[in-house]
Amino acid sequence: MRTDDIRSMYLEFFRKLRHEVVPSSPLVPSKHDPTLLFTNAGMNQFKDTFLGKEKRSYTRACSSQKCLRVSGKHNDLEQVGLTPRHHTFFEMLGNFSFGDYFKKDAIAWAWELVTSKDWFAINPDWLYATVLKDDSLGLVDDEAGKFWLEAGMPEDRIHYFDRKDNFWQMGDTGPCGPCSEIHIDRRAQLGGRLTKPLGSACDKCQFGNKMYRKCQKLKEHDLCERYSELWNLVFPQYNMEFNNPLEDLEKPGVDTGAGLERFAAVLQGVVSNYETDLFVPIIEKTEEIVGLPAGEDRFSTSFRVVADHVRALTFTIADGVAFSNEGRGYVLRRILRRALRHGRQHLQYQEPFLHLLVPAVVDIMGSTYPEIVEKAEYIQKLVKAEEEAFSATLDRGLVIFEEVLKKTKRAGLRVFPGDEAFRLYATYGFPMDMTQVMAKEAGMTVVEKTYNALMEEHRERSRALTKFEVEESLLSKLNLPPTEFVGYAT
Ligand code: SER
Repeated sequence: MRTDDIRSMYLEFFRKLRHEVVPSSPLVPSKHDPTLLFTNAGMNQFKDTFLGKEKRSYTRACSSQKCLRVSGKHNDLEQVGLTPRHHTFFEMLGNFSFGDYFKKDAIAWAWELVTSKDWFAINPDWLYATVLKDDSLGLVDDEAGKFWLEAGMPEDRIHYFDRKDNFWQMGDTGPCGPCSEIHIDRRAQLGGRLTKPLGSACDKCQFGNKMYRKCQKLKEHDLCERYSELWNLVFPQYNMEFNNPLEDLEKPGVDTGAGLERFAAVLQGVVSNYETDLFVPIIEKTEEIVGLPAGEDRFSTSFRVVADHVRALTFTIADGVAFSNEGRGYVLRRILRRALRHGRQHLQYQEPFLHLLVPAVVDIMGSTYPEIVEKAEYIQKLVKAEEEAFSATLDRGLVIFEEVLKKTKRAGLRVFPGDEAFRLYATYGFPMDMTQVMAKEAGMTVVEKTYNALMEEHRERSRALTKFEVEESLLSKLNLPPTEFVGYAT
């Protein structure tokens, strides 16, 4: 099934259930919401509707929403490339109820869409549900558990987790509530085709094969590919205002979210999102440019980073963000620099090349998102200019980094010197976050204490200089007559 068909089928399923099909909102949230840098979930555009502040002509909606998770509460930037299923930019399929239906229907419909032969027809034996049970909140979502049973999920595949896993909030404020997810056992689906079967890839998973455990936490279960979260059903019942007690919403609702890319991987029977029709043409184009095979282990992370980031750049620029040194523009800059570094350092390609991949993204996604077609040329130009501007800094920085790394290793040190990280930044403009990531790849950490101390001194000096410059310019504004030099007059 092509991804375009999956998207349409999802929306069609809910349209038939009298949901308004609402277009994606832009990646830059409305000015009325200063709490978010980028749109990070399908529910963002409905935030005020959930809170009862905005009335719409419908109480049920569905969408395929452009999302970017690179900042704030939901930030996947550093995981991208390391896993088969994390992205900065992705599309989130969702259905929403604003005080209309609640848990029972949301669960029954999700189960029907996922398992019915008329729809996605995923084998129910591969699926699990998770439900909230949290002592600190005093909440056990028995209702959700009961509705999963009624829908057809066997009891031994319904698992309870605390708020860390099964309570969803978009940020420090806003609508939030318990959530209940569908997970899929990809080993049951793919058998030996999983590149890293549970056990070798996930020997930290103390629960072994017998008991289901959420295995998508990178820190605890590096690279485990066995279980994948497929769909998150949130039941917004509260409003959160920073650390205040939760307030009940007047009308509880439903906010579901399923990554289209993950559905595509499952329905196309491939291990990784990067093997779906959303990514393959971008990766093939990259292979053609750099002349290396994406399938080789030592290159695969970088191919994934490049493919993911070029999509993020394309969509974010189309929605009006330009490269800059602060806010959204700086996030954009970090994304481009991360991809460019992977190209230079790991794919050994020395020329700007990301802009050459933009047309592949436009070909795949342009019929669904015409804004990227309209702005394709502009996006390419902006990306190319930014690549060129950063190239010299990157090249110099990579050489110096390597020299310091060698010296450090020769001296038997296991940490990257903070003063060198500072020199890289202050003298060569090489960003600290990049030094940190590269040090990590080399199995080291940067001595941040030294870096921070030098940085503070640097700031102090700049402040003093600025003050001096201000005083100078004030003097010049006084319009005093030129001073006559009389030193030699006598
Ligand atoms: N808002 C929830 C999420 O982003 C469900 O859509 O996971």
